[in-house]
Amino acid sequence: MTVNEILNKKGNEVHSILSTITVYEALRIMGEKNVGAVLVIEDDNLKGILSERDYARKIVLKDKASKDTFVHEIMDKEIVSVKPTDDLDYCMDLITNKRVRHLPVLLDEKVIGIVSIGDVVKSIIELQKNTIDHLDSYIHGTKA
Ligand SMILES: NC(=O)c1ccc[n+]([C@@H]2O[C@H](COP(=O)([O-])OP(=O)(O)OC[C@H]3O[C@@H](n4cnc5c(N)ncnc54)[C@H](O)[C@@H]3O)[C@@H](O)[C@H]2O)c1
Repeated sequence: MTVNEILNKKGNEVHSILSTITVYEALRIMGEKNVGAVLVIEDDNLKGILSERDYARKIVLKDKASKDTFVHEIMDKEIVSVKPTDDLDYCMDLITNKRVRHLPVLLDEKVIGIVSIGDVVKSIIELQKNTIDHLDSYIHGTKA
């Protein structure tokens, strides 16, 4: 299964923010949209990503105030992204080895979607279930 196929199922919606808003405002948006990360997109270009982890480690543990800190001060600028043609295994490798939970999907350097660890795990489980169903029908001689 490819990233494109995951996006076809879950949609291309991307919740993004500007780097000039406060971290508090960004957290409010994350809460409102019920997501664990937001992309920082300016002039159609992906500038960074801000996650709940950034908040925990760069604000709470550093004794900073989210209302006095701007997104550009703590956002992660080293973005680990994928292409629509990348496959599930590649996504899982990145999530595991780079320790990220959200992968922006880029096509010609523009953001066309986002896949999270939850999306990838859900797709892997679906694929495994299909394989089991096929094997089951093969063994028991019924059509899947
Ligand atoms: N049943 C499902 O379809 C499904 C899919 C993904 C996650 N989940 C569950 O949600 C919980 C948290 O998921 P998570 O750790 O993957 O992270 P998450 O809460 O950030 O992601 C949840 C969903 O929101 C989407 N999302 C995240 N950030 C986004 C953004 N900036 N713009 C647009 N969409 C965005 C993700 O792609 C994912 O589909 C887990 O309990 C997981 O099992 C369920």
